[in-house]
Amino acid sequence: MSVSDATAWAALTEHSATITERSLRDLFAADPARGTAMTVSVGDLYVDYSKHRINGATMRLLHLLARETHVFEKRDAMLRGERINVSEDRPVLHIALRKRRDESLWLDGHDVVPDVHGVLDAMGEFTDSLRDGSWRGADGRPITTVVNIGIGGSDLGPAMVHAALREYCDGPDVRFVSNVDPADLLSTLADLDPATTLFVVVSKTFSTFETMANAHAARRWLVDALGEDAVAGHFVAVSTNAALVADFGIESSNVFGFWDWVGGRYSVGSAVGLSVMAAIGRHRFAEFLAGFRTVDEHFQTAPIHANAPVILGLLSVWYASVLGADARAILPYANDLARLPAYLQQLAMESNGKSVRGDGTPVGVPTGEVIWGEAGTNGQHAFHQLLHQGTRLVPADFIGFARAGEDFISLDGATSMHEVLTANMFAQSRVLAFGKTKAEVIADGVDPVLAPHKVMPGDRPSTTILASELTPSTLGQLIALYEHQVFVQGAVWGIDSFDQWGVELGKASAVELAPALAAGGGPSDAMDSSTRGLVAAFWRERT
Ligand code: F6P
Repeated sequence: MSVSDATAWAALTEHSATITERSLRDLFAADPARGTAMTVSVGDLYVDYSKHRINGATMRLLHLLARETHVFEKRDAMLRGERINVSEDRPVLHIALRKRRDESLWLDGHDVVPDVHGVLDAMGEFTDSLRDGSWRGADGRPITTVVNIGIGGSDLGPAMVHAALREYCDGPDVRFVSNVDPADLLSTLADLDPATTLFVVVSKTFSTFETMANAHAARRWLVDALGEDAVAGHFVAVSTNAALVADFGIESSNVFGFWDWVGGRYSVGSAVGLSVMAAIGRHRFAEFLAGFRTVDEHFQTAPIHANAPVILGLLSVWYASVLGADARAILPYANDLARLPAYLQQLAMESNGKSVRGDGTPVGVPTGEVIWGEAGTNGQHAFHQLLHQGTRLVPADFIGFARAGEDFISLDGATSMHEVLTANMFAQSRVLAFGKTKAEVIADGVDPVLAPHKVMPGDRPSTTILASELTPSTLGQLIALYEHQVFVQGAVWGIDSFDQWGVELGKASAVELAPALAAGGGPSDAMDSSTRGLVAAFWRERT
């Protein structure tokens, strides 16, 4: 059934006209308990969704929509290992990556949990040897720098998590190379010594062009300095494609596997997180996985009205599909989470940026949101102007923490910088929601001519996620919360959230065009006139 055929869909569409006539000021005035009632807790995360354009009736209709679109049956099908990635005919079992050693998850008569822990143990032994210096490079010195080479899910997850857990990094220096732009690899290697550098080549398929180009260039850099025999001690791989890894020259004992039931953008808890484990150690990596598990169990068991990923998934459908919001801003008030918006871009947009349902029929309603954002308070001095007074509806997710690891006292000598940061986060969501009327502006003594410029319209929705502290566990919880939110969206829309066919034609087209830009190439009549013109301009500028 298409979402637009649901009884709740028609009801929500009708309801949207009346609820949006009510301001958030009105809704808060009508229900003094709203600010604590419209909240949900999961693990260490406190989620406040009271500043949304909703009331109890909206939530009841969204719950009905979830039931009519079989969100819970689809969740259970995923958890049972059914092949819910229909277009690739694969199960979707990233939750298996977080199972405890004593749990089971059976897939086609095989318990996959021992496989998962087998790889985690191998990762632990390997990263221990890097961290304690017993893994030696070609000239006998220990490794001081790990360079992760990967792209998309093979880069964004480990890069985001490594930055987020800065305070927990006590192993080798870890760097990330992803772009096929040679500047990325060159700038990363510029100050490195090949003898103390180890490359982790991360690619599920081991055939992604950017990753293989960077891996081969890194291999040449190493071999030029240390000789061919050095490759074995300075390259390891994370992949599901053992044959192609062997062709590259990486020994099978240095390959950390995962499975086709782990999608790239859901893979940071698998061996794809190897460089993170090198940085923080196996015990903290286990805490990271335990954080995911807390939210997995909540998603699996919490009732609909208290299920955080379900609530957040339904709210994002409400905005994207019913109220016509095209985008959602991700605003972490934690500098160490600066890469979270980029990570969530792939998670949400590659999963749900689709127009057809799993059976190939059109979804028929607007789907995937444009995810973007920036760490607070930097965004306040850049784009919050549009959020506050622009003409577009852009719901925002504020993410902050009660405690900071280290802190400084601020300008007043009494408040800490972390407290100021958090005050800014609370202030932004408050001003977005409640604004400032013209009468209030004029009452402040503002010239009436200037007043329209200073009016703050309010009624700009946001969610606030407040956690205790940015730790491996709370980060795992946060990622799992978003993973399951994305699942709920896709389930309501009826789309396959686990394929990414939309990226393939661009890759093939680049391969086809590359010879035109290489020696002996040039524009051809077979090209469209724009591409022909661009190729001609490229050659004019080259010569
Ligand atoms: O091009 C998209 C994509 O397939 C992503 O889904 C994936 O995370 C990325 O490329 C990298 O793929 P791989 O790990 O196979 O190199």
